[in-house]
Amino acid sequence: MKIKKAVIPAAGLGTRMLPATKTIPKEMLPLLDKPVIQYIIEEAVASGIEEILVITNRAKSAMDDYFDYHPELEERLLRDGKIKECEAVRRSADLAEIFYVRQKETKGLGHAIWRAKSFVGNEPFAVLLGDDIMRSQTPVLKQLIDAAEKYNACCVGTQAVADDAVSRYSSLKVSPLEDTIYKVTDMNEKPSPEEKFSNFAILGRYVLTPAIFPILENTPPGKGGEIQLTDGLKQLCLSGHPFVAKEFEGRRYDTGNLCGFLEATLDFALDAPETGDFLREYIKSKA
Ligand code: UTP
Repeated sequence: MKIKKAVIPAAGLGTRMLPATKTIPKEMLPLLDKPVIQYIIEEAVASGIEEILVITNRAKSAMDDYFDYHPELEERLLRDGKIKECEAVRRSADLAEIFYVRQKETKGLGHAIWRAKSFVGNEPFAVLLGDDIMRSQTPVLKQLIDAAEKYNACCVGTQAVADDAVSRYSSLKVSPLEDTIYKVTDMNEKPSPEEKFSNFAILGRYVLTPAIFPILENTPPGKGGEIQLTDGLKQLCLSGHPFVAKEFEGRRYDTGNLCGFLEATLDFALDAPETGDFLREYIKSKA
C-alpha cells in the first residue's frame, strides 16, 4: 500500500468566517505570510504525497492562481534584488503536482470526496481537510500513512476531545491494537449523547481506499442535510473493511472558525523568528 495521492476538499462555504469569506476562500486566509492551504500542502508533501487534487468551487479560483507561476512578479523581484521573496513566490508554485476539480453544488464533505473518484483510480489515497492545520514532530499525515500501511487498512486521525465538544465531531467506537493505534468498528457523525461511542473524534486527516466511492455515491444526506463522509465511512467500517484510527502526536487547529484561526496565528507567530520576540513584548505591554 503506497500512498502517493491526496485530496484536499476546499469547497465549503466558510460561513463561520464571514464576511471575509464572501470573496476570499477561507483556505487562502493568511497565517503569518502563507495561506492556510499552503501549510496543508506542505504537510502532504512532507508525508510523501506527489499528486494533490483540490476540490474547489466557482468562488475559489484564488487558490489555483496562487499555486501558478507569476513571471511578471518574479522578474520585478529579481530586478530589485529581492531574491528571498522571489524564491518564496516560486516555491509556492513548485510544491507539488496540483490538480483541481469543482464541486458544482455544496452538498457536503462526502459529496466533495466523491468528486475525486477519477483522480484516485484504484489506489489508496489521503484526505486532508482544507481548514485543519497540524503542528507536530512527524507530519500527521505521515503518522496515519504508517498506520494504514502497517494494518493494510483505512485510517482516520484521532484525538480525545472534551465531553462537551464530541457533538461537533464524529465519535469513534474503538478497541486498542497498540499504543496509539485502535481498531475502529463503528462511528457516528455529530452524535447526540446517546449516539456517542467515545471521546475519540475524527480530526481532519484520513487514509482511504477507493472502496469508499460506490458507498458515497449512494449515501443519502445526513446531519445538516449534507452528504457526510462519516456516514459513508460508517458503512465501509460495518461492511468489515479493515479500519484503524491513529491517535496522532501533534496539535490540530481548526482555522475555519475565528477562535481556532486566532490560536493558530498566535502560536505560529510566537514561534517564528521574525515575529516571536515582537509578539511577546506586545502581549506583555497589554497585560
Ligand atoms: P466545514 O464544515 O469545516 O467547512 O467542512 P464549511 O462548510 O466551509 O464550514 P462553515 O460551517 O460554512 O464555516 C470541512 C471541510 O469540507 C469541505 C470544507 O471546505 C472543509 O475543508 N467541504 C465541506 C467541501 O469541500 N464541500 C462541502 O460541500 C462541504
